[in-house]
Amino acid sequence: MKKIAVFTSGGDSPGMNACIRAAVRTAVASNLEVFGIHRGYEGMIDNLIYPMAADSVSNIIQDGGTILKTARSARFMTPEGRAIAASNLKVLGIEGLVCIGGDGSYTGANVLQQEHGIKTIGCPGTIDNDLFGTDYTIGFDTAVNTALEAIDKIRDTAESHNRIFFIEVMGRHSGHIALYSGIAGGAEGIFIPERQNELESIIAQYGLPKRQKAFSIFIVAEGDEEGHAYTIAKKFTEAYPGLDTRVSILGHIQRGGSPSANDRILATRLGAAAVLALKEGKQNLAAGIINNQVVFTPFSEAIGRKKDVPMELWATNELICS
Ligand code: F6P
Repeated sequence: MKKIAVFTSGGDSPGMNACIRAAVRTAVASNLEVFGIHRGYEGMIDNLIYPMAADSVSNIIQDGGTILKTARSARFMTPEGRAIAASNLKVLGIEGLVCIGGDGSYTGANVLQQEHGIKTIGCPGTIDNDLFGTDYTIGFDTAVNTALEAIDKIRDTAESHNRIFFIEVMGRHSGHIALYSGIAGGAEGIFIPERQNELESIIAQYGLPKRQKAFSIFIVAEGDEEGHAYTIAKKFTEAYPGLDTRVSILGHIQRGGSPSANDRILATRLGAAAVLALKEGKQNLAAGIINNQVVFTPFSEAIGRKKDVPMELWATNELICS
């Protein structure tokens, strides 16, 4: 392998730039020619593929977002779109890809290999932390800390007014951000999609005199099956008329900002490992870190398989709040 390309795909996450930097610099140090693809699979189809050098990634390790930009591509889901993308790569002699993204991005890379033989190593870039084959995904730690900062601030005003706040955090199908930010933020209750039918019991428990506090914080994962924070707040006020509730939806603030030290280190290790793996001829693997060791999981095992949330954390919170 002589030429590789790096791209970011799907929702951005803090630390993607650190991963791009590590991949590009590792490629240069390994005598590989390296390209950057702008706007993920969209750019692969539109031929937005440019040479990169060590100085293309100077002074970006601390930046949120992605210098390569990102996109969710409907065109790449078609065989025609993938054929154009593969042809653009082949004209440039690119044989290997470092794909920084989530499950949908890995799925695209897997199909591209099956149809056109382009080899890919995936680096887990998503704030959701729901990818199989790694303890943590790039951006999760920063997103949790961003949510936590907001929760701490909301706690101040909740206490001043004796209010019950329902704070909605991101996590399309997963409760990792909710669970971690809820534990760290001292939440009274945490609603996550992995824990079904918890609303009735949480509402009932809130009625117990020992659970009644002057003010409370509840965290709701956006993907919780009970509905969004507004729905849950409404059900609380129906059960306890007179309760002074407020809802706060943190939204995309969680996707931005300077990556934490943990995210920069994770991204750097995985970006470098991905390039070295491509150089060794490996392909169609998701890079990850488990028990502080870099590991590779075949796309066929990782794709479509959600990583479980540590339910003992949820139980611990219930115990602490009981
Ligand atoms: O997958 C990351 C994520 O931030 C989810 O938590 C959220 O549901 C989704 O992306 C939002 O996507 P978009 O930015 O396309 O609205």
